[in-house]
Amino acid sequence: MSNADAIQKRRIFGIISHPDAGKTTLTEKLLLHGGAIREAGTVKARGKNKFAKSDWMEIEKQRGISVTSSVMQFEYDDKVVSIMDTPGHNDFGEDTYRILTSVDSAVMVIDAAKGVEAQTVKLFKVCSMREIPIFTFINKLDRQSKDPLDCMADLEDALGLPSTAVTWPIGNGLTFEGIYDRLENKVYLYKQKDGVIALGANGVFGDTLEGIISDANLDILRSEMELLDGAGNPFDLQAIKDGKLSPVFFGSALADFGVTPFLHHFLEWSPAPGTRKTTTGEVNPNDDFFSGFIFKIQANMNPAHRDRLAFFRICSGTFTRGMSVTLSRTGKQMKLSQSTHLMANDRETVETAIAGDIIGIYDSGNFQIGDTLTDRKEKLFFEPLPTFPPELFCRVRPVNSLKAKQFQKGVQQLAQEGAIQVYHNEFNDVILGAVGQLQFEVFQYRLLNEYNSEIRMEPLEYQVARWVAPGSPKDVKDYVVARSTLVYDHFERPILLFANQYTLNNFMQKNPEVKLVEALDVD
Ligand code: G4P
Repeated sequence: MSNADAIQKRRIFGIISHPDAGKTTLTEKLLLHGGAIREAGTVKARGKNKFAKSDWMEIEKQRGISVTSSVMQFEYDDKVVSIMDTPGHNDFGEDTYRILTSVDSAVMVIDAAKGVEAQTVKLFKVCSMREIPIFTFINKLDRQSKDPLDCMADLEDALGLPSTAVTWPIGNGLTFEGIYDRLENKVYLYKQKDGVIALGANGVFGDTLEGIISDANLDILRSEMELLDGAGNPFDLQAIKDGKLSPVFFGSALADFGVTPFLHHFLEWSPAPGTRKTTTGEVNPNDDFFSGFIFKIQANMNPAHRDRLAFFRICSGTFTRGMSVTLSRTGKQMKLSQSTHLMANDRETVETAIAGDIIGIYDSGNFQIGDTLTDRKEKLFFEPLPTFPPELFCRVRPVNSLKAKQFQKGVQQLAQEGAIQVYHNEFNDVILGAVGQLQFEVFQYRLLNEYNSEIRMEPLEYQVARWVAPGSPKDVKDYVVARSTLVYDHFERPILLFANQYTLNNFMQKNPEVKLVEALDVD
């Protein structure tokens, strides 16, 4: 198979959801369908095994959560599918966001009883910013759920995302009888797991389903179809591909029901690796030169080696182990001799890989998140990865001031790695910013274990950060009001921290001349 054909068959996606919506269960079912695992329960077990391997992830073990992310790959319908695992706990961090910058599409799992929840909204924003297609799987139909029409309305109301129902539930909870695939005009029966009925030209309005599903459910199904056919968004593949319309599927991941039609349509409509913007034009996956970018750095996967593993998305060309590349940021040339698959536990050496593959490259401290590697002569910079406004802050100091050097070094390296955001105030206190509490705990643990620096952390009352755009009429210091404070990032750019949204709104009303922004591009 030519490289171009192989690239066309690749699919890279991430699953976004609020904790407990069923991301792990759905992932597991997808891996089962793809033959990547043989038994249910393996995905969680994988997590446990992985923790046993690495010391600093003791935190994860204690809290029973997964902080690290890996890539899971399987083949289905002749497609090579990679699922980027995203940390799903409430304490997710910036990593979760960044992983979404490396995927070509996203699957959004929603609990049918709860609708769109807080974490889904945050992750959705990152996907919609990138305009990638978002496929919605409304889960847990085997339990009492919200009305499916309300679930659809919720997508529009909470996310502003127009949607189109591809499959539709017949009943729910105790009355759940199956799902109707509107495009293929088929009904999948829940009680007979493999029962699939092809409907005639009149679809649900014909008599095929009579006597097969209950009269009550059939009446409801028909009236819902009338509504959807008349007032719902029509199916529009281009709008789906442009990220402007989300195809919606219903099912039960736990019962592995509705997963097959979802997977089938998803692989049909989700995009293969496409072009990527750079500061000097676009890179096409079929371009001959090798290029790609680092979107995550994982430290000390193996504590015995003190190594760091850079997660690298290949955007064009072919990777061969041992090849020479240039790190565009510094111009430094290097040989990529240590590379690995990222598939869960099994770290096998990668010899070759192509555009659309994610590989791990061992790093001894050369790389930063967002770095580009290429074998082209000219430097290449992909669009910068966005930085995300932190929502939690704390002041941090070394317990032993004689160890200030280790402390400074650790802080600097972890900041560079993108583990946390580091600021300072006018007294030169170190202030940390994070999007999840866990980032602080990991930071504290790693400073102690990797830099031998014990730290004291003092939470600060602020929740909202805004960069002050250049050109404010007064000195920024004069703008600090009650329940706000001023800090600087490592480019010495001023940031105002506010106690809450209310304080921020108040500030903006009083000082309309000050331009505050959620994030500034990294120069
Ligand atoms: P997450 O990764 O999004 O956090 O969710 P996860 O898959 O771990 O699922 C959260 C809980 O919801 C689990 O139950 C899981 O079994 C259940 N669940 C997932 N999909 C479905 C579904 O389609 N129907 C029903 N009824 N339940 C579902 P748990 O009791 O918290 O964990 P476990 O002991 O079953 O693993």
